[in-house]
Amino acid sequence: MTGMNETIIAPSLLSADFARLSVEVERTEEAGADWHHVDVMDGHFVPNLTIGPPVVKALSRVAKKPLDVHLMISDPWQYCDAFIDAGAAGLSFHAEVLGSGDGHQLVDRIKSRGVRACLVVNPDTPIAIVKPYLGVLDMVLVMSVQPGFGGQKFRPDVLPKVETLRKDYGFTGVVQMDGGISRDNVARCAAAGTNSFVAGSALFGAEDMKREISVFRQRIAEAGGSSGTATA
Ligand code: DX5
Ligand code: ZN
Repeated sequence: MTGMNETIIAPSLLSADFARLSVEVERTEEAGADWHHVDVMDGHFVPNLTIGPPVVKALSRVAKKPLDVHLMISDPWQYCDAFIDAGAAGLSFHAEVLGSGDGHQLVDRIKSRGVRACLVVNPDTPIAIVKPYLGVLDMVLVMSVQPGFGGQKFRPDVLPKVETLRKDYGFTGVVQMDGGISRDNVARCAAAGTNSFVAGSALFGAEDMKREISVFRQRIAEAGGSSGTATA
């Protein structure tokens, strides 16, 4: 099982060329990515609309690496099965929607179908909200931008949340960060305890994605993270 000792690089397909998704998936895999990060937005939880289950299904036909599906949607209870049927290997849903349904029931449902379950916290949401779920979660995603759009500036003020997860709560699952991640901040993220790194513009916008991923890995390893790739 994937845990805290692997480094997982997850390029965000939000920054890919949507007219050539299969080519982009291949390019990303050849560059050494571990997971494909897929940003799902419903125009309600966030003011943007992106990808739905049919596109995830199409991606799963061409992807050899796992699809890490980030649900920025108000009702993950309604749609989780559709994304699992479409081929998601992991589903991340937001803590900010927990007032509208039973989070434990949703985690159970996701895991009962053999899919990784993850809770996400926005930059201004306190990390304590995930505490009751840590025993059952495979991953926690700490957002380092307000979700909705790629290309925003990294918020270092969220790093203490990662430290709290590791040091105070003793969480040994995957800690992922997403938003404004680049070669300039991966070391700080890794030093805090992050081991899964989502990056859209920094990787798809790089002249050479393979080289950029190796720079990420080198800086993460220097900061005390693993330089190895994920096995699951
Ligand atoms: C933001 C998305 C991110 C985004 C990251 O709402 O969840 O995954 O694509 O893009 P960059 O790396 O450009 O901030
Ligand atoms: Zn995302």
